[in-house]
Amino acid sequence: MSRPKESAPTARRPSLWGAERRQVFEALYGSVQYGYCMQVEGDVIEFGTMSGDTAALLAEAIAACDRLLAPRYGPVHGAPKTLWLLDSFKGLPEAEAEADRSAPHVRAGVWAAATCRGISPALLAKKVARHLPRARSRVVEGWFSDTVPQLPAATRFACIHVDCDLYASTVDALGPLFARDQVADGAVILFDDWNCNRASPLYGQRKAWNELVLRHRIRFSDEGRCGIASRRFIVHGYERAPVPVGAGGDAGAHAANAAQAEIAALTTALAETRRQLAEREAELAAAATEMAQIRQLHTAARRRQR
Ligand SMILES: C[S@@+](CC[C@H](N)C(=O)[O-])C[C@H]1O[C@@H](n2cnc3c(N)ncnc32)[C@H](O)[C@@H]1O
Repeated sequence: MSRPKESAPTARRPSLWGAERRQVFEALYGSVQYGYCMQVEGDVIEFGTMSGDTAALLAEAIAACDRLLAPRYGPVHGAPKTLWLLDSFKGLPEAEAEADRSAPHVRAGVWAAATCRGISPALLAKKVARHLPRARSRVVEGWFSDTVPQLPAATRFACIHVDCDLYASTVDALGPLFARDQVADGAVILFDDWNCNRASPLYGQRKAWNELVLRHRIRFSDEGRCGIASRRFIVHGYERAPVPVGAGGDAGAHAANAAQAEIAALTTALAETRRQLAEREAELAAAATEMAQIRQLHTAARRRQR
């Protein structure tokens, strides 16, 4: 997700994006840490590097885990982890899929072709090397549709940061990983743009994930939101070969599958609404407790006055 520039925070004016970024950064850092502590096999990969800020954060987290956790927990399965950084280095592609062309962010021009263009591959490598030795990161330049199928087949991933905005880009990033069995058991996937397009399941990362879940029968835990736009999942298993959609031109099967995708999308939306409702209820309960305490104090004060 690209953020508008904000003037420096002051003591009086809290930094809006500062708080948001902190939550996402903590979630990313924690995801790497989780991969090490829970011995999840595989490397760390980021789809969409732009400024290199989250890439540098991931590099910092890997270096800290190597330094602090590996000696403590002994030989960590799947460590030391390498950081894979993938980007076109040309910004966003042209929105071609209907789900992207009709998406509110694309229609409003927020996500246009060549926007979100960031630093060069050389600068990115340099930025990341401040934290992690060069041999431990790989910068891969090109469109995901070309680069992801070319990743070494034996490489698996424990932590996947998907920060590429569009529906098609998300499918291009994750599709080959599931098809080639490169998502490790217990891997974390963090979607940076989950709530973009007003959180509609018809667009962007929500639509891409719901389709992938159906296509590969992915079993996962929803680990909840981080920041205003992001959400995290942990993968427990999936089928490598895609479950056929309307195989043999079977229109009935295709319609059934589409309906199933719609149900999955609505189920996700319902779960999110329930979660928000539970949050509000907890806030209300806390406020009610506070009110009761204030009333008690008030009554006690009045008694003392009499
Ligand atoms: C919102 S930015 C990423 C922000 C970044 N994580 C940061 O910390 O600044 C989205 C990035 O995804 C890249 N991108 C989107 N779709 C892509 C695709 N299909 N192939 C390659 N790169 C893509 C863009 O070039 C852009 O750099």
